[in-house]
Amino acid sequence: MPASVPLAPVLTGPTRRDLSRPVQGFAFGGDYNPEQWTEDVWVEDVRLMREAGVTLVTLGVFAWGSLELADGEWDFAWLDRVLELLHEGGIAVDLATPTASPPIWLHQEHPEILPVNRSGQRYWQGGRLGWCASSAVWRRYALRAVTTIGERYAAHPAVRMWHVGNEFGGGNRHCYCDASAEHFRSWLERRYGTVDGLNTAWGTAFWGHRYSSFAQVLPPRDSESAQNPGLLLDFDRFSSDALLEHYVAERDALRELSPDLPITTNFMVGSGPGVIDHASWAPHVDVVANDHYTLAADPERAQELAFSADRTRGLDRMRPWLLMEHSTSAVNWQPRNRSKAPGELVRNSLSHVARGSDGALFFQWRASTAGSEQWHSGMVPHAGTDTKVWREVAELGRILAASAEVAGSLVEPARVALLADDVAGWAWQAGQKPLHGLPAFHAAREWHRTLWHAGVLCDVLPRTASLEDYSVILVPAVYLVEPELARGLEAAARGGATVLVTYASGLVDESNRVIRGGYPGALRDLVGAAAEEFFVLQDGECSALEPAGTVTTWTELVQLRGAEAVRRYRGGVLDGEPALTRRRVGMGEAWYVSARLDDEARADLLGEVLAGAGVTASVPVAPGLEAVRRTASGRSWLFLINHGDEDVRASARGTDLVTGAPFDGVVPGGTVRIVREEPLS
Ligand code: GLA
Repeated sequence: MPASVPLAPVLTGPTRRDLSRPVQGFAFGGDYNPEQWTEDVWVEDVRLMREAGVTLVTLGVFAWGSLELADGEWDFAWLDRVLELLHEGGIAVDLATPTASPPIWLHQEHPEILPVNRSGQRYWQGGRLGWCASSAVWRRYALRAVTTIGERYAAHPAVRMWHVGNEFGGGNRHCYCDASAEHFRSWLERRYGTVDGLNTAWGTAFWGHRYSSFAQVLPPRDSESAQNPGLLLDFDRFSSDALLEHYVAERDALRELSPDLPITTNFMVGSGPGVIDHASWAPHVDVVANDHYTLAADPERAQELAFSADRTRGLDRMRPWLLMEHSTSAVNWQPRNRSKAPGELVRNSLSHVARGSDGALFFQWRASTAGSEQWHSGMVPHAGTDTKVWREVAELGRILAASAEVAGSLVEPARVALLADDVAGWAWQAGQKPLHGLPAFHAAREWHRTLWHAGVLCDVLPRTASLEDYSVILVPAVYLVEPELARGLEAAARGGATVLVTYASGLVDESNRVIRGGYPGALRDLVGAAAEEFFVLQDGECSALEPAGTVTTWTELVQLRGAEAVRRYRGGVLDGEPALTRRRVGMGEAWYVSARLDDEARADLLGEVLAGAGVTASVPVAPGLEAVRRTASGRSWLFLINHGDEDVRASARGTDLVTGAPFDGVVPGGTVRIVREEPLS
C-alpha cells in the first residue's frame, strides 16, 4: 500500500441520530482499565462499583496492546471475562475502540505511522496517540482492529455505547510528515479549486511567496520567521478535518455492525480554542461527550467549569450531553496538582449535571500504580475505600440515583448567547498580532464570568449556531467573522436582540485577511462605528472612561458612523474620543466596546444591557450560590450549588432530591440541593 491514499472527504451533512441513551437515569462511573489488574481485583471492582452505584464504565480505551498481542494475534479471553462480570453486576459498558494508543509491535513494524513535528522529526514509540491521521497504513490497521472488536462485541448485552478513540488531537493534532503534506494539498485543492484562488486567499504576494501549483505547498514546517496567517489557519482547519475523517471511518465501521448503538468520542471543550473544530465535529457524534479538568492555577475554577459546560451544551442544544471524564481529585499533568477540597468533587460533578450533562464519569475507576498516570486520582484511590474520595464518590452515586428523574431533561433556555469559536480562536493564534500573549478566549471568559456572578445563564456558542432565540448576544473578541455570522447578528438585532461587540472582533475574514475600512471590519456597519487605530496599553497601564469606568490592555480611536457615544475616554491620547457606543438597529440595538473593561466597568455595562433587554437571573441568588434549572414537559428541577463555606438562603419550593425532604430554603455551605419545583399554581 502506498504511504498515503486520498482519504474520503468528510461528510458534509449532519449525521447525528436520535438513539436511546446508554443507561436509564444518569450515567455514573468512569474509564475502567482492568488490563492493569488481576482477576481478583476485577471481582472486587464490580462489587465496589455496585456499592457506589456505578451504572456505566468506559472500557478498553488503551487496551489494544493487551488485545492484539502481535500482528493479527488476538487474546479476547480477559475482555470476555470482564464484560461477563460487568454484565452480571448490571453495569453497562461504553466500549472503546483502542486506537488512542497503538501497540508497540505496530510502531516497531510501521514507525512511519508516528507523527512528525514541525522540525521534521518523527516521534518515537512510548507515548500515546502515536499516529498520523493522513497515514493510510495507520488507517488500515486501525480499521482492522475496530472491525475485529466490533464484530466480537457489537451484540454483547453489556455494550450500550461506542467510544471512538480518545480525545482526538490531544497528542497528534498536527502532523507535518510527507503523507500529511500530500493530504493537505488535496484538501486545499478541494477548498480553493485553483492555485490562484489559494494565492488570493492567503495573500501570497507578500514576501513573494506565490505558488504556481498546489504541489509547491507544504505544511507550515519550521522556518526562521513568522509564517503566513492564512496558511497557519488552513493547516489548523485541515488537521481537524483529517482527524474527523479518521473518526468518521471508525464510526462508520461500527455503525454498520451495530446500527442501533450510540457512537461518540470525548471532546476537550475547555476555556480556550480546541485542538479540533468542535462545531464541525459535533454533528457526527450521537451524544456530545466532554472531558473537563479543573485548573489549579485558575482563580475562578467553578466559573471556568461552568464556561466549559455552557460551551459543551452549546454544541447541541436539543439533547443532554455527557461528561465523559473529570477527576475525583488531583491530576498529574499540571505544574502543581491540586487535590479537591472536601465536597468539591460532588459540587464539580453536579455543576456539570446542572448545566446539561446526563451523568458524571471520571478518569479513572481505580488509580494506577504504574505507567505515566500513576499519580492521577481515581474513584478508588491508592489508599483504598476508607477515604474522603471514596466516600464522596459513593455520595455522588447516591445523589445521582436519587435524582434519576432529571435525566433526559434540558437546561432551561438561556436568553443570553456568548460566542466563543474554535476557528476564530485559531485565527487569533495564527501569526503576529497587535498584542501578543492575550489568550483567544480571554474576553469570552471575562464576560461569562460577569454573567456567572450575576446568576444569568448563557449559552456559549460556536460561530455556526442559530442566534434566533436570544435577547442578548455577546461577541467578545471574536477575531474572525464570516459573512454568515455578520448577517445572523444583524438579523438578530433587527428582530429585537441587543448585540454587544467588543474590540478584536470581526477583524479578519475566513482567510485570516484583514477586512479594510475600519475595525471591527465585518461588524462595522452593524455597530455604526469604526476604529481607525488600536492603542494597545502597556502592562499595568490603564485608562479612564467618562462618566465612569476603568479600562486596561486595549483601547481604540473610534469614529462614530451612526452610533452614539455612551462612554468616552478620559485623559491620555484618546481623551474625549468615543469608547463605548450604541446604535438602534431595527427593533434591537448594537453596542460597540472598544476597550478591555475592568471587572467593575464590565459588570456595570452588562447590568445596563441586561436591564434594557429585560433579562434577569432565572433565580435571585446570593453571592457564591450557583443556580441552574433543568426542565422537561412542564416539570423543573433547580440545582443550587453553594461554593462558599457559609449557609445561603434560596427561594425555591419543592422536594430536595438530595435529602428527600421538603427544601427548607437553606443551602448549607459547600453543599448542593436539587429541588423538584412545585408547579406554580
Ligand atoms: C484525558 C485522557 C485520559 C487521562 C486524563 C488525565 O482526559 O482522556 O485518558 O489521560 O486526561 O487527566
